[in-house]
Amino acid sequence: MSLKKQSIVVAGGGSTFTPGIIMMLLENLDKFPIRQIKFYDNDYDRQKQIADATEIILKERAPEIKFVATTDPEEAFTDIDFVMAHIRVGKYAMREKDEKIPLKYGVIGQETCGPGGIAYGMRSIGGVLELIDYMEEYSPDAWMLNYSNPAAIVAEATRKLRPNSKIINICDMPVGIEHRMAEILGLQSRKDMTVRYYGLNHFGWWTDIRDKDGNDLMPEIQKHVKQHGYVTPSELEGSSSEDVEESWMYTYGKAKEVYELDPKTLPNTYLKYYFYPQDEVEHSNPEYTRANEVMDHREKNVFSECNRIANIKTAEDAQLVTDDHASYIVDLARAIAYNTKERMLLIVPNKGSIVNFDPTAMVEVPCMVGSEGPEPLVMGEIPRFQKGLMEQQVAVEKLVVEAWEEGSYQKLWQAIILSKTVPNARVAKQILDDLIEANKEYWPELKKENQTET
Ligand code: NAD
Ligand code: G6P
Ligand code: MN
Repeated sequence: MSLKKQSIVVAGGGSTFTPGIIMMLLENLDKFPIRQIKFYDNDYDRQKQIADATEIILKERAPEIKFVATTDPEEAFTDIDFVMAHIRVGKYAMREKDEKIPLKYGVIGQETCGPGGIAYGMRSIGGVLELIDYMEEYSPDAWMLNYSNPAAIVAEATRKLRPNSKIINICDMPVGIEHRMAEILGLQSRKDMTVRYYGLNHFGWWTDIRDKDGNDLMPEIQKHVKQHGYVTPSELEGSSSEDVEESWMYTYGKAKEVYELDPKTLPNTYLKYYFYPQDEVEHSNPEYTRANEVMDHREKNVFSECNRIANIKTAEDAQLVTDDHASYIVDLARAIAYNTKERMLLIVPNKGSIVNFDPTAMVEVPCMVGSEGPEPLVMGEIPRFQKGLMEQQVAVEKLVVEAWEEGSYQKLWQAIILSKTVPNARVAKQILDDLIEANKEYWPELKKENQTET
């Protein structure tokens, strides 16, 4: 049976991840055939550099695919089956501020966690809603697969403000960690494991991991994580072929201490920001954060390689590699396009999946995915420790969306002080005031509540 060919728009065509996604799509054409790829971005010059190289790659490797790069929403979103969205509103310049402003006050500075993540959320909500509106206007039957961050806040905003839209929010962190677990176990692929997991985005735990015969794999992984975190055996030996940056190696090692809080489960690495915030501050350089590292490495490498390809007009010796972890994006698109009923971790409305948790929270749980979208599986009741942490964190996410919607200074201040990463309300206010100043161009105007007259 021949599969229907798909038309895709990559929103955020100028993203550093776009070339990896293109290479990954090209490797999967037998499973997910494509007739058209479009790029959409609001930064013409940035996108053009990636697009010029992509045009050459497609001409050489899949000339049958029609390719268009545009900044015009109507051209981009017309005749589309899938929107693959990875925008970064404010780009790395604003990520750098999100990270450096809290650090000035001794609070972690991070892309998606704590005050930095909240600031990024306040920028992303409008950008992602705009993409949904374009999709619904020009291709009402399309689906949006969104991995624009901070996914937790973006997901809550889309649940609340575009409740009927066909958007699925996804994250690659569990995929990346499962890849490491498979290596620890000596398995060929993470797909040899079936997992149970629950939490919020960048805030969750595995509770059960089994092989295809139903054998429990948790004890062996836990034994390894207890000693080494998620650093793999080949990394420990120094024989790994993957080139992982020092800051990520630190994170994988730190999982050892994160794991100790609940040795019955296995944690997402992002929990380190909530359990050990002081360690993270001490390990940070307030003058040179992850944004600087990414600008100096990934951004430079990707753009210089794309410019090189465009100059020599061939991609025969291209150094752009498939992003292996990104293959879950094809799995998800395939599941919807061809009703495969793939089991995947997605960010969806809880609606009873976590039985003793807010049904309106956006949670990350395993789902079966088919043409009608994701059907969450029931993860049951969760323990008091995780429930307490998640209730606090989900309140942060919901308050940010309310603050954005209502233009409320008070609610955003409350959101920041509710984040477990922030020590007190005075510091929260100082950080907020700095963030407002830095984000003038991007945030809605925030109004302070009138004091009651005495
Ligand atoms: P990047 O800055 O290289 O790319 C983002 C692109 O989005 C830029 O070209 C920018 O011009 C464009 N953009 C910004 N606002 C826009 C708007 N309103 N409309 C259209 N385009 C817009 O960033 P990156 O590091 O490649 O990351 C891209 C996104 O993917 C980020 O949000 C990042 O956090 C996210 N990401 C998510 C996951 C996940 O697990 N969900 C994994 C990796 C990256
Ligand atoms: C993981 C997370 C993403 C996050 C990224 C940051 O992949 O799941 O949500 O955006 O890490 O990576 P970076 O290399 O940009 O710091
Ligand atoms: Mn993520």
